[in-house]
Amino acid sequence: MSFDRSIKIAPSILSADFANFGAEIRAIEAQGADWVHVDVMDGHFVPNLTFGPPAVKAFRPHVKTFMDVHLMIAPVDLYIEAYAEAGADMITAHVEAGPHIHRTLQAIRAQGVKSGVVLNPGTPAEAVADVLDLCDMVLIMTVNPGFGGQKFIHSGIEKTRKIRQMIGDREIHIQIDGGITPETAPLVVEAGADVLVAGSAVFKGGSVDAPEVYGQNIRAIREAAEGARAKAA
Ligand code: DX5
Ligand code: ZN
Repeated sequence: MSFDRSIKIAPSILSADFANFGAEIRAIEAQGADWVHVDVMDGHFVPNLTFGPPAVKAFRPHVKTFMDVHLMIAPVDLYIEAYAEAGADMITAHVEAGPHIHRTLQAIRAQGVKSGVVLNPGTPAEAVADVLDLCDMVLIMTVNPGFGGQKFIHSGIEKTRKIRQMIGDREIHIQIDGGITPETAPLVVEAGADVLVAGSAVFKGGSVDAPEVYGQNIRAIREAAEGARAKAA
């Protein structure tokens, strides 16, 4: 099968009901989510705390699609094995989280899971140039990590364009995370992104009792993104 550069929507369960993750994951998948994005925060690299490996392990049986685990922790290397064993399909780690991103990506691949490198809004595209061959994905942050519901930072668009060029015909996804809505999705897709994380824009107005709202929200982002893709082609 050829590399899948189609638009993929990855709802972030940071915006889900924290008392009901199993049902929330099943609901977003039934409503069209392509991936499930899990935001791991340590209260040190970012000013918020979320999920340890046991939580991720508990999510695993509910995820039928693809579980993408975004590590916002430092140090990171110490915990890669635990998150891989918890069932991550992909682990992404920040360039800014330690001095040895090359080693970190090698360690992720050594666990037999897909690997991704993440850049904060303040980090230039060039920071990932020498590790692209160790990556299945580059994640470009369009907010400063730590919280859902923040405003999209527009400098991520030009960065996406640069990274898309750097990637060339290599089989590497570009994921965007932060402030993605039907309004901002076209901007990053036109620049070369294929995986869109969305927390508040997917979960807003819905619940496990009104899951069709998740479906409407996912479709609105997907349609805006695919429209931009069609125009760019
Ligand atoms: C931010 C997280 C995001 C966040 C996105 O640190 O990495 O995944 O949940 O939330 P929205 O889509 O609301 O900006
Ligand atoms: Zn994230």
